[in-house]
Amino acid sequence: ARSYEYIQTSEPKPGVGQVTLHRPKALNALCTPLITELNQALGEFNSSDSVSVIILTGSEKAFAAGADIKEMAPLTFSKAYTTSFIESWSQLATQVKKPIIAAVSGHALGGGCELAMMCDILYCTESANFGQPEIKLGTIPGAGGSQRLTRAVGKSKAMELILTGKSFSGVDAAQWGLAAKAFPSYEALMEGTMKTAETIAGYSKVAIIGAKEVVNKSQDLPLRDGVEYERRVFHGIFGSQDQKIGMKAFAEKKKAEWTHE
Ligand code: CAA
Repeated sequence: ARSYEYIQTSEPKPGVGQVTLHRPKALNALCTPLITELNQALGEFNSSDSVSVIILTGSEKAFAAGADIKEMAPLTFSKAYTTSFIESWSQLATQVKKPIIAAVSGHALGGGCELAMMCDILYCTESANFGQPEIKLGTIPGAGGSQRLTRAVGKSKAMELILTGKSFSGVDAAQWGLAAKAFPSYEALMEGTMKTAETIAGYSKVAIIGAKEVVNKSQDLPLRDGVEYERRVFHGIFGSQDQKIGMKAFAEKKKAEWTHE
């Protein structure tokens, strides 16, 4: 694996790529160079034949404590506007076709919460500390938090959380449907995340990428258009070898051997 300053990358299991945010001195605060490295690593996993699914995690103590406040403090409107400050963060959500599982332990605040919400599956520990505390700094969420939190938990709860800056636990996140599951310990989180990643990596890459694409469309399109979009992709997958392989294996009561074609 390539060496980075603020992140670590690995392929812990066949088909599984992992990015670990690693800026321990600042609780993984998301400075611009960290995001640049993250985008580079995700781009490499996205185009790698050996990777089907990506895990994004931090440390036990912090997934990420937010955008880098010290970097933002002197930023001006004109600088933010002309450089599209924070826009590059959304590459995670827009440029990566393979599913990304966030494994969140400890703090996931501000931009850290937003980064986790951009992922396709969110797993956390019960004691994880989520929140959008920007209001306490005299600002507002800037990396999609107001949109994704609202879609996940509904308007009234999102409004309450964003206007008060109050944090919420992994137990809450799972109860509200923001997280798919909250695990009782850090070890259980990482084990459960790997298990899900391996399950996904065991399927056809064509179907994995198609499934991610259509589920994500549900967040952007009205129902009728989304259903039509899904059907087009579904029809398209009849053109893959793996659809034939998967259905033939079922009929023959055998295990499918995917070609990813
Ligand atoms: N930016 C820059 N540095 C940060 C940081 C951040 N978001 N969060 C933590 N750090 C740094 C601290 O400054 C500290 O550095 P020093 O040792 O050099 O002082 C180091 O990380 C350790 O932090 P603490 O000593 O504060 O650790 P703690 O355990 O006492 O507290 C915490 C942990 C509650 C997470 C606290 O660090 C905190 O409140 N952090 C800020 C959280 C926040 O407001 N995030 C939102 C940022 S705004 C944003 O993200 C905008 C957006 O929508 C994109």
